[in-house]
Amino acid sequence: MENQQQTQYAGIAGKTVMITGAAAGIGFCLSKAFAQQGAKVFMIDLNQEALTEATQALQAYSVQGYAANVTDDDAVRAAFEACKNSFGLVDVLFNNAGISLNKPSLDITMSEWRRCVDINLSSLFLCSQEAAKHMQQQGSGVIINTASIWGLSTSAERTAYCTTKAGVVSMTKCLAAEWGSLGIRVLAIGPGYTRTALVEKLQQQNTLDVADLERRTPLGRLAEPEEIAELALFLASDAAKFMTGQTYLIDGGWEANGFQ
Ligand SMILES: NC(=O)c1ccc[n+]([C@@H]2O[C@H](COP(=O)([O-])OP(=O)(O)OC[C@H]3O[C@@H](n4cnc5c(N)ncnc54)[C@H](O)[C@@H]3O)[C@@H](O)[C@H]2O)c1
Repeated sequence: MENQQQTQYAGIAGKTVMITGAAAGIGFCLSKAFAQQGAKVFMIDLNQEALTEATQALQAYSVQGYAANVTDDDAVRAAFEACKNSFGLVDVLFNNAGISLNKPSLDITMSEWRRCVDINLSSLFLCSQEAAKHMQQQGSGVIINTASIWGLSTSAERTAYCTTKAGVVSMTKCLAAEWGSLGIRVLAIGPGYTRTALVEKLQQQNTLDVADLERRTPLGRLAEPEEIAELALFLASDAAKFMTGQTYLIDGGWEANGFQ
């Protein structure tokens, strides 16, 4: 779905926006949407090849790619330094990098568990802490985390994913409570199933039945990543300046429909 919306969101043009997991899927759409609003977008991803392709696709805008693993403390600190040198202090941090782990709990190895916790939860704390150091100097900033419907719901064979995303929902509240007085808003988005490589991979592994998901979603389809980006722009903008501490689901009614 090509992004048709041309709504201008106040308070985004000229801002420095750092996005993790920016080379593909939701992160790429976020990067494009913020860049189209006139933001300077610093795109971090583990996958150098995909990052090069992604930044080339956005070369008409003010974007910079930076290859880093968001679980690596030193690499993250170096990324913030590089961002400061290129674009200035971070105004908006989008903690989006994440992985799925759908597997029976008896079969999950501790190394798989730790990797999931590291990427889906600990890295968000690390990046948020670094961003808040920048933001407190400016007296303002917005941190948005990509949680999931699975941060508010639970299911068999998704223990690691659900637990880490529930942790993201909780961390969002805690940091919002602590950093509100610094002028920093902290929010989370909880997408339902969204058409990205992550979902395609689960479909290929036969761990996801897309037709069944569409059937149980009241609006009858998966989300498009551009729709997630639209919510992100609103939350980052001045229109949402009294919003903090909450997770906003965007799921076509999936969570409201319960389990069937
Ligand atoms: N697609 C969905 O249905 C869906 C639904 C709810 C939530 N989410 C969440 O949205 C986020 C993005 O998902 P997506 O579907 O776009 O995924 P994706 O797999 O399409 O893209 C994720 C990107 O993150 C990068 N990445 C992964 N680990 C990294 C690391 N350690 N350091 C830096 N970059 C890393 C990958 O290289 C990739 O480019 C994730 O947090 C995911 O849990 C996705």
